[in-house]
Amino acid sequence: MKLLVVGGGGREHAIIQKLKENPGVETIYALPGNGGIAADAVCVPEIGAKDIPAIVDFAKSHAVDFAVVAPDDPLALGCVDRLHDAGIPCFGPDAKAARIEASKVFSKNLMKKYGIPTARYEVFDDPAKALAYLRTASFPIVVKADGLALGKGVLIPQNLEEAEAAVKSIMEDKAFGDSGNEIVVEEFLTGPEVSVLAFTDGTAIAPMVSSMDHKRAGDGDTGLNTGGMGTVAPNPYYTADVAKVCMDTIFLPTLAAMRAEGCPFKGCLYFGLMITPDGPKVIEYNCRFGDPETQVVLPLLKTDLLTIMQAVENETLADLAVEWSDGAAACVILASGGYPGHYEKGRPISFPDAFPANVTCYHAGDKRQPDGTLVTSGGRVLGVTATAPTLSQALADAYAAAGTVDFQDKYMRSDIGRRALRAMEEA
Ligand code: AMP
Ligand code: GLY
Repeated sequence: MKLLVVGGGGREHAIIQKLKENPGVETIYALPGNGGIAADAVCVPEIGAKDIPAIVDFAKSHAVDFAVVAPDDPLALGCVDRLHDAGIPCFGPDAKAARIEASKVFSKNLMKKYGIPTARYEVFDDPAKALAYLRTASFPIVVKADGLALGKGVLIPQNLEEAEAAVKSIMEDKAFGDSGNEIVVEEFLTGPEVSVLAFTDGTAIAPMVSSMDHKRAGDGDTGLNTGGMGTVAPNPYYTADVAKVCMDTIFLPTLAAMRAEGCPFKGCLYFGLMITPDGPKVIEYNCRFGDPETQVVLPLLKTDLLTIMQAVENETLADLAVEWSDGAAACVILASGGYPGHYEKGRPISFPDAFPANVTCYHAGDKRQPDGTLVTSGGRVLGVTATAPTLSQALADAYAAAGTVDFQDKYMRSDIGRRALRAMEEA
């Protein structure tokens, strides 16, 4: 079979490596892919992940049998709809279902209408009304741009002055473009965060192993928000009891709500949860695999990924047993110094001759020079993942391997997994 994967980061590298385990897979095309992915797939750097007509033309002219659309932008732009129009089976939600991530107003209204637990909120399209409301609010409070904003559209003002600045930045200065035409202002919740990715064909659901992201740039969860500096799986806060409550009050009701709204969700649905003193609540939905959650979740998957993705497309997921390893995984992101602010690119990367058998280095932001050397080309450059029977071993192995990769101004957090280990000790 010939497969096509849309995207070019660490998440896509993890998806591609897992798809390759299927012996029926002859070729995987990555559009655009990246320097490191080129070792595992045929990369097409000329076709960006948002260039839907070019992606569809490529899939048709290369007789692609199955496509996986991984990033949020092409999903929201209807990449799956257009591939289906061209008769190409694929994994991922259509544009109507992708609104669950692409519009926070849509997802908040969905949760309210169907009684799915989430933070209380108000929606505003008029900055004056938003400010009038904020003058009566208590702080901290959460201000979110409606649309996609590269994970940066959430601000948590601590006082009225910061709230006024947040409204000005999102609604008037349009820091996130049209994504800020509307905002959601919501109650600040507290509690540990858990990410649960789930395969779903619209009706059946197979939740994956839970995970924990580390979004802030600095140790101790300080500094700016990033795309994610590291992940561990499973997440110790996601106990069997919590999992059952989530299935009954969040997962199944969300799928039913999407069906009732005429936009059944097929693909990977990401539940960003907070385990509050009042029980689990939804912080956000993503219409796709998380990055870098995928880099710790898929290495623990025992069932063939392509078979699962085909079952999602064919709506036969209920007939498939999706199995997971009992062990743990940890991913440490190696970033360019300065990220998520300004950073330099083009730094040559040196790798060890080989990684230990339980370690995989996923490439997120690098490119290959004509002489074959890999150089940095993004903020998050590599994700070094280790799997092991215990989380502490996985972390030790991931950090040991991360230390054997080098480039100028390499930056990583030194405390990935520390909170998870502490939670396990306290349990
Ligand atoms: P999001 O982009 O929606 O994942 O939000 C980014 C981060 O902001 C989340 O991972 C949370 O840490 C935080 N956040 C979002 N909404 C809330 C909320 N209602 N209460 C507290 N923290 C929140
Ligand atoms: N790691 C969070 C996300 O993928 O949105």
